[in-house]
Amino acid sequence: MKIVLASDHAGYELKMGIEDFLTGQDIEVLDVGCGPSEAIDYVDYGAKAAQRLVRGEHDRAILFCGTGMGMAIVANKFKGVRATPCWNVYTAEMSRKHNDANCLTLGGRVLSLEEAKAIVATWLATAFDGGRHGRRVDKIRLLENENFK
Ligand code: RB5
Repeated sequence: MKIVLASDHAGYELKMGIEDFLTGQDIEVLDVGCGPSEAIDYVDYGAKAAQRLVRGEHDRAILFCGTGMGMAIVANKFKGVRATPCWNVYTAEMSRKHNDANCLTLGGRVLSLEEAKAIVATWLATAFDGGRHGRRVDKIRLLENENFK
């Protein structure tokens, strides 16, 4: 699996912890920034990662900011991205089973590294349920077709 990571300054430390956690697993990870000691706008780096995801260069994206919320708003502006902020293992599991989320957003100011690792592990290991949830995700695609250029 290919995963793109991005963060702002508030998510940087958690991103680096998760990058370490993913290293050594059967996953190709690309970190598109930001770097250490940069105070930047989450919008710029979230957009960078989301663009790569919609171009099909990666299977999934994991984005980090202070709360995970700004990154989710940015990523969901890109057609084909289903980004969800998750704050525990249950929300991570449901975001995959019910929403087929392809982008996980995490808050560096609200999660410990241990919590984030458990969320990421669950998110990566959980498959989409399909069925009635597939019908709902298809309806989201129709909305995208109507509302995105
Ligand atoms: C940066 O201070 C903070 O606003 C940002 O990381 C994020 O939490 C926005 O949603």
